[in-house]
Amino acid sequence: MKGIILAGGSGTRLYPATLAISKQLLPVFDKPMIYYPLSVLMLAGIREILIISTPRDLPLFRELLGDGAMFGIAISYAEQDAPRGLPEAFIIGEEFLAGEPCALILGDNIFHGDGLVAKCRAAAEIAEAGRAMVFAYQVDDPERYGVVSFDGAGRPVAIDEKPDVPASTWALTGLYFCDARASGIARGLTPSARGELEIVDLLRAYLAEDALDIGRLGRGYAWLDTGTHDSLHDASSFVRTIERRQGIKIACPEEIALDLGYLDAAAVNARADLLGHTDYARYLRVCAAAARA
Ligand code: DAU
Repeated sequence: MKGIILAGGSGTRLYPATLAISKQLLPVFDKPMIYYPLSVLMLAGIREILIISTPRDLPLFRELLGDGAMFGIAISYAEQDAPRGLPEAFIIGEEFLAGEPCALILGDNIFHGDGLVAKCRAAAEIAEAGRAMVFAYQVDDPERYGVVSFDGAGRPVAIDEKPDVPASTWALTGLYFCDARASGIARGLTPSARGELEIVDLLRAYLAEDALDIGRLGRGYAWLDTGTHDSLHDASSFVRTIERRQGIKIACPEEIALDLGYLDAAAVNARADLLGHTDYARYLRVCAAAARA
């Protein structure tokens, strides 16, 4: 299975912080924002990843992540010259996907929680079996997101983008596992009143065929927003709090690569040497030593 990270957009809600740099390159505590969605794809077992961003920002993503070898994965890049909607990722990525199922994740979505790996791997199997799977998370402000409502048996019945009167408090997160049909479905969509292809329309196509599964991320999970200065600060504080308390990092791609056998301890130590006298580099050395023991 292949993965796409959509990391474009203009980040206007974070101006002036994003006047000259992509939002998804801003730090969330101790690492760039894109490390978080990248880690989710890696944990899902995905090793071939396409990063889509603006012509302005792509060179910086390349500088940060290269061809992915530093994490034992393969990263390629594609441009989206204007934010024409999330489903466009499946169109831009069509050649990269080459008829395979795909996990699309938004470059500004941060997930954390025990059991996420199993959920993602199960979702990947569902996509490989010809369906789509997305995750819903209970929020206090559903009108800011795609919202899904369920029938009495817990099956999804309706999906709406930023409804004025939300039918439930379950927001759709920015992680979409889709079968090989996603690019074709995206091509058939027409732009909404706001001039964008809408991810909810793509999901509705699966829903109409009874081919959409929704996993609910319950109390044990964090799905963090980074859309405003406040929520970005809150996300950084959350990561800092958990990392300090546990002494383990959230979304450290080198550690994930080590665990999955993509990198060996020597490669992780070499990476630490590049990162100077930082807490992150120290952490990599600890991970490498534990792997050797
Ligand atoms: O975060 C989850 C939400 O993401 C979902 O609940 C919504 O259904 C979905 O539409 C989306 O809502 P947002 O309001 O967050 O969408 P936004 O337009 O802000 O785009 C999300 C990210 O994707 C943002 O970092 C910019 C990037 N993006 C967006 C568009 C429309 C692109 O890279 N290209 C695009 O064309």
